[in-house]
Parts: sequence; structure tokens; C-alpha cells
Amino acid sequence: MPDPDRPHLWPSVGEYPIYDAFLYHAMLADQHRNAVFRDAVLRQAPGATVLEIGCGPDLLWSLYAAEAGADRVVAIESLDDSVRRAEELARDRAPGRIRVVAGLSTEVTLPDRASLCIAELVGCIGGSEGMARVIEDARRRHLCPGARVVPHRVRTMAAAVCLADLMPDGPGVPEILVPYVESVFRAAGGFFDLRMCVGGVGYEAIRSTTAAVEDLRFNEGDYRQGGDLRLTMTRPGGVDGLLLWLDLQGRAGGERLDTLATRTSWLPVYVPLVGAEPMTLDPGDVIELRVTSELSADGIHPDYRFAGSVRRTDCRRIQVAAESLYAGSAFRRSPLHAALFSAEKPVDPDRASRARRPSDPAEVRP
Ligand SMILES: C[S@@+](CC[C@H](N)C(=O)[O-])C[C@H]1O[C@@H](n2cnc3c(N)ncnc32)[C@H](O)[C@@H]1O
Repeated sequence: MPDPDRPHLWPSVGEYPIYDAFLYHAMLADQHRNAVFRDAVLRQAPGATVLEIGCGPDLLWSLYAAEAGADRVVAIESLDDSVRRAEELARDRAPGRIRVVAGLSTEVTLPDRASLCIAELVGCIGGSEGMARVIEDARRRHLCPGARVVPHRVRTMAAAVCLADLMPDGPGVPEILVPYVESVFRAAGGFFDLRMCVGGVGYEAIRSTTAAVEDLRFNEGDYRQGGDLRLTMTRPGGVDGLLLWLDLQGRAGGERLDTLATRTSWLPVYVPLVGAEPMTLDPGDVIELRVTSELSADGIHPDYRFAGSVRRTDCRRIQVAAESLYAGSAFRRSPLHAALFSAEKPVDPDRASRARRPSDPAEVRP
């Protein structure tokens, strides 16, 4: 497995229905994530009617809600294997208290509305797993007016970064993770410049001020996805991309979890910036980008695009652009993807089903 203290690349997998025991275990073992959700659930579940969307096989938040004294708990899950495991757990651990429903929350019909919705559908870019659309749909069809949602707020922050300096030997996906790359290609219907995360980095990696590219306030129905981004260089050096990470709050007034300061299973996303020239910037240079977020063809998962320029302190401007898509046809367009998927290192989406998956969850945990 990659050394957790050294920068390494991972495909972003949460957007696709390719969860396996290994990925679920990585979330189950994520104590920082779990502490934020547990606190929010324990405080708000007593007496509530609860709907969990995407309970996975471990039924974590539904079990906490039932133990905390929720009136009734319904848990929806779309993956069959996970549904079966969740049903067993519900029978063993909270007999008669949790009803597991198979299907997508956006497609199932439920007899009753809930007063508390718990949904850990938070992507490595907060909204990339489609949580904004899923919660909008849940408010229309599954929730009471004024129902509370956990998490309360998810912001995705951005700053300038230089991957070439973080990985001086060149970018590469660890062999053990290649099956996930192939699974993403299969799920997305073909090769494209898939979203990549970078593990083993913290605040020391960034070279500019920070700003939010997305702000999802689930309890206010306020979903800002995109806008104008202004990053001022604070350190001299190369810049070849943006680093995106989460600032997440489980409940109003609760502790915030910053995933660049604290290692969690939400790895920061690296978005390669394609510029007119390689960029070595100085403190004071400003990267100005218009960020747009549009739903991809499936109507749930957003695509993110960035376009703008770098304004140097000597008034020169360099045009830059970037994209982070759910699926698509552009393959090897970005310098990162051209380097990762060179002709000598082909990837095979048909191999995914028979490829070895890591069997020891400890292998995957950054
Ligand atoms: C990030 S995992 C979270 C699993 C578990 N709740 C946890 O926090 O450890 C998201 C889960 O939600 C499921 N899922 C995603 N969107 C869904 C939807 N709209 N309806 C039902 N299940 C969904 C996925 O299959 C996956 O099991």
C-alpha cells in the first residue's frame, strides 16, 4: 500500500456504485468522520423519525439513531449486497426498530415522512456524489417540512498546488488501486480524465490563499456550487493544479472537520490546471477562476469546470482552465492524465471484474 505519509494518487470512487468491503471498511475505520456524524445523530435522533439515505452494509447511523431513542428508523440502500448485510444487522442489533429499504432514494416511495435525514453521500468534492440533488428530492418526497439533515454544511475549499513538486518521480497510481481505476471507467462507460485524489498531503502542500468552490447548506436548502475563485499566491514556486478539500459540519454549532488538517477517508482532490505555459509564480500573483458546476447526463452527479487566468504582479496574464468531471470523452487531455495513462501503461476497463481487490482493509487506509 502507498506510504500514508508520502504523496500518492487515488481515483475518486464514491461517485460510482463500486463500493466493496474494502472501501466500506475504510469509512468504518475513519474515526474523525465518524465522530462528527455520531455527535450530530446522537443529539438530534431522540424522538425523531429518521431516514438514513445510503446506509451501506454497516448501518452505522441508523443503529446510533435507534440506540439514541429515535421513534422510527428507515434506512435506504441501493447496493444489493449492502442491503442484505444491513438487514441482518438490523435484525440482530435493533430487532423491529429499523426498516431497511432496497433501492435508490430518488426512486423509492415511502409510506411516511421523516423529521431527521442522515446521508453520508459526501464526495471528495463535497457535492460530487450528488448529495444536493438527493436531498432536494428527499425534501420533496420523503421528509417533513423543516426536517433536519445530517451533515449540516459541507464546504469544498481550494488552493494552488504543485503536484510535480509533491511527486518528483512523476505521478502514478499504486498497482493495488488500478482495479478501482478500471471500475470507474466501466461505471462511467469509457475512458476519460477521471477525478484523482492525492493522499499524504496537508496544508504544507498549498501555495496560495484558500477560497470555497462549493458551499452546501443542507438545512437551509442553499446549495452554492461554483462562483468566482480568487487565490493569491503566498509562496513562490510552480503551480500545476488546484487542491480541493472539505470543511464539514455535522450539525449546526458542531465542530468542523477540515480534511486537509486532519486525515480522513475523504482525500483531497487534485485538479490539473492546463495553462498556456508552465507556471512559476511569485507571492502576490493572483489566480482568478470562474467555477461552474453543471449536472452530468445522469441528472445527479455534477461536473466542475474552471476557467480564467493568472494575473502576475508585472501585469502579465496567463490563461488557465481545468475540469473535474463525473464521466466524459476527453481522455489524456490533462498533463496528469497524459502522464498516468501513457500508451506504455494501458488500463483495461474489462479487467475490472476479475482484477484482484485488496483483501486487507488496513492496506487501503491512508
Ligand atoms: C459513502 S457510502 C456511506 C455508507 C455509510 N452510510 C457510512 O457512512 O459509512 C454511501 C452509500 O450510499 C449508497 N447510496 C448512494 N446514493 C444513494 C441513494 N440515492 N439511495 C440509496 N443509497 C445510496 C451507496 O451505495 C453507499 O453504500
